[in-house]
Amino acid sequence: MNKRRILTLAMAAMMLFGTVGCSSSGGDDKKTSGGDLPKIGATIYKYDDNFMSAVRRELESNAKDKADLIINDSQNDQAKQLDQIDTMIQKGVKVLAINLVDPKAATTVIEKAKAAELPVVFFNKEPDQAAMDSYDKCWYVGTVSKESGVIQGEVIAQQWEANKAKWDKNGDGKIQYVLLKGEPGHPDAEARTKYSIESINAKGIQTEELALDTGMWDAAKATEKMDAWTAKFGDKIEFVICNNDAMASGAVASLEKEGYFSGDKFMPVVGVDAIPEVITLIESGKVVGTVLNDAKGQGKATIDLSLNAANGKDVIDGTDWKLDGKAVRVPYKAITKDNIADAK
Ligand code: GAL
Ligand code: CA
Repeated sequence: MNKRRILTLAMAAMMLFGTVGCSSSGGDDKKTSGGDLPKIGATIYKYDDNFMSAVRRELESNAKDKADLIINDSQNDQAKQLDQIDTMIQKGVKVLAINLVDPKAATTVIEKAKAAELPVVFFNKEPDQAAMDSYDKCWYVGTVSKESGVIQGEVIAQQWEANKAKWDKNGDGKIQYVLLKGEPGHPDAEARTKYSIESINAKGIQTEELALDTGMWDAAKATEKMDAWTAKFGDKIEFVICNNDAMASGAVASLEKEGYFSGDKFMPVVGVDAIPEVITLIESGKVVGTVLNDAKGQGKATIDLSLNAANGKDVIDGTDWKLDGKAVRVPYKAITKDNIADAK
């Protein structure tokens, strides 16, 4: 074979692998283990979400050797997710573990599950009570959304009290804040937005909202919003409150460009989740606190309940989980520099 022929073959092989790589990350389902294990059909609303990536890893590690886990990237597309569910039902899964794209689509998913006589474990995006009540074989794994807002507000209040001599830039005693909200209509986003502020106020600290907008849980979108807000309000901003850590890290990236976090120029930023990136930012003093959203616990509970449901057992059989109605709610925890080890 001459050199050119070898090169052509090598390139063809690379292209082939390239294509295979693309299709497996392009929303098609992926098996993690096989055999005669019970089939669990799972979806993640989108793989490109920091916190959900951590939950996905926990699903995979907990399913190992116990279940045949089929997992799909719904790519933030509810119609696509419904198709994926149809396909998994055709493949004979014994249970559905669903991270909805749109929390309101729970009823449609339940109709499909009912028709196929399959149990469903929803996780992370909580369906409303009416949907949950409409089917005896559905459960939810997540948190008490309100709790994350309350705890975040307490972190803000505690940090403010300790630093207000410097942080109350206009000296009026109030916190002038901007708030980066998650996906509108998402129970976590709504509750964090409401209760973080209520919980600061409950501590006797007044607040004034300069701006509030959605960053859709996303770092890049948060950077864009923060760019616009610093241009508009500059040092009138005294606190940046973020519904999650991805947006907190996006806000920090924007603030760094404006010269914050060097010399005396500082801006307090808080998030929720305790993703590794933000743990590092807390250590370096660029984020003042977060609220641990326990991906490990939620991933484990989702697999535990799904396996029990697949085997026709009581969903919490043989586990330490407690049911609150039809939900397992994993607690949140405040994280600042002082207890950073707890988040690691
Ligand atoms: C929240 C989490 C966000 C985002 C969202 C997706 O619980 O804090 O970062 O992952 O779930 O539904
Ligand atoms: Ca002030």
